[in-house]
Amino acid sequence: MCGIVGFIGKNVKIKHLINGLEKLEYRGYDSAGLSFIEDNNISIYKKEGKIKNLKEYVESILEKDIQNGIAHTRWATHGGVSDENSHPHTDQKKDIAIVHNGIIENFQILKKELIEKGHEFFSQTDTEVIAHLISENYSGNLFEAVYETKRRLEGTYALAVIHRLEPNKIIVARKGSPLVLANSKDFTMLASDITPLIKYTKYVNFLEDDEIAELNSEGYTIYDDNKKIIKRNEIHITWDETLAEKSGYDHFMEKEINEQPQSIKSALSGRIKNNVPNLVELENIKNFIKNDLKKIYIVACGTSYHAGLSMVYLLNAYSDLDINIEVASEFRYMNPHVDKNTLVIAVSQSGETIDTLEGIRIAKEKGAHILSMSNVVGSTIPRESNSVVYMNTGPEIGVAATKTYTAQIAILYLISAQILFYREQYSTEIKNIVSKLEKIDEIFEEVLTTKEHIKEISRQYVNYKNMMYVGRGFGYTAALEGALKLKEISYINATAYQAGELKHGPIALLDEAFPVFAIIPFNGLKEKMISNIMEIKARKARVIALTSSEDERIKEIVDDYILVPNIEEALLPLAVAPITQLFSYNISILRHLDPDKPRNLAKSVTVE
Ligand code: F6R
Repeated sequence: MCGIVGFIGKNVKIKHLINGLEKLEYRGYDSAGLSFIEDNNISIYKKEGKIKNLKEYVESILEKDIQNGIAHTRWATHGGVSDENSHPHTDQKKDIAIVHNGIIENFQILKKELIEKGHEFFSQTDTEVIAHLISENYSGNLFEAVYETKRRLEGTYALAVIHRLEPNKIIVARKGSPLVLANSKDFTMLASDITPLIKYTKYVNFLEDDEIAELNSEGYTIYDDNKKIIKRNEIHITWDETLAEKSGYDHFMEKEINEQPQSIKSALSGRIKNNVPNLVELENIKNFIKNDLKKIYIVACGTSYHAGLSMVYLLNAYSDLDINIEVASEFRYMNPHVDKNTLVIAVSQSGETIDTLEGIRIAKEKGAHILSMSNVVGSTIPRESNSVVYMNTGPEIGVAATKTYTAQIAILYLISAQILFYREQYSTEIKNIVSKLEKIDEIFEEVLTTKEHIKEISRQYVNYKNMMYVGRGFGYTAALEGALKLKEISYINATAYQAGELKHGPIALLDEAFPVFAIIPFNGLKEKMISNIMEIKARKARVIALTSSEDERIKEIVDDYILVPNIEEALLPLAVAPITQLFSYNISILRHLDPDKPRNLAKSVTVE
């Protein structure tokens, strides 16, 4: 959460900072600000609200040449949303400007110490305390001052600091929050992730925890915690800049929903051969999977958890493996029963979610093998895992996960199939699912042809305050994700239940004002679901059903329906995803909201 960016070099302009921030806005959009050095003085511009407010504020100086600059887009943690709590922050003398992503846990102790020394503070943030501490430690060398300061900080940080008397450098440091460095012919750069940098270079360096680096116009030097220079090869990034642009769509979310036929193809590319999974990333743990694996534990949050739940249903249905799943923020504190015979699968599109990261750290300590799945090459969770499968879907900018969710399910299914293959339990059913999975892009194409019909139906549900999603089995995992998508971008109170659970309580909520989105199974549970729908209709709730074209009976009893291609039950969460995503997207637009930047959320959740 929060995004930071910085540039130093001969051709830096204010617009580079703004463009960089725009690429990071998905990380938080409570306020934005930037700072640079001019005539040995620190200049700061900051504004509450989205980056466009800051952009308007600095409109007249966008083309201004600057030697160096740092900038920040904020997701508020310590201190409310206001101009004064916006970054960059300075010290009392205004010698230093700093941007920070993370949380300093001991900031109150440090603040008290500094107040006793006569420091005065102007914001409620933890970051301002860092600026003052750096100033306290400064005696003519910014690198040394930041180095000394970071030794006192507890918590997480990615920092970028400038000093008015040292305009030829930016000092950065990292612990627990991501930070990427890169060079181009025009400048040296830093950012919270690669998206602001790929316009200028395809080669980047990910800072590791406890490292500190000095950037100047010639390049950057990375040091470890003992000030020893670190030499590390840069990582080649294959993402194309155009992938991080809207390409004619009104919103990133709309684009990302519509590009799922391509993104799923790219995620599966080269990973299935002759209906058999070909996940080379698992080859080095083949013996572990075959001989030692006793338990699988999936750890994830939000949408990634929902993708993980589909894998649980799959392995339960088609194997005798012991498979568990837990939301990462609970897993961390529940004394999870994992050991050297456990495969912990961490699912995280961003690769930075702190709860998931802490979860795998605990599991690793207990001896489990960690396999992670992420869409961001070089992000922290993959770097701390024993094995990694990257999702290869290209950048996802919309805050609500769409194409990464479907890629997660597809890859988790392939991981399941690969495990069963290694354990010589590769049944005809699994083989059939893998062969259908290989063509799932065609199902997405087909589902996306119902776009206009989905829009029509969405119009009728715009004004409801509540909505319930119900499903059974794989359809239940799809219901959970459908409800999350709707609540996060439309702010409708949407909840999901297993259809069979309704009569145990939730049915009491239903009446004309509480519509239900029913995901109908294709398997033997269909009849049970029809009975559940009858029960819902008896309470006068309006029902939209996702059903296959043959289900004439269902079409008659529900108020609205959207057709889903008739496929294997296990692939239901994939087939219905574009539909529930488009439904939520339409409602968000009809309610005049911004689906790309839902309130209070950020794409990369690096706080607990
Ligand atoms: C919802 C959404 C979130 C994330 C969750 C985990 O649309 O995107 O629920 O799924 O914050 O994020 P990652 O996958 O980055 O660990």
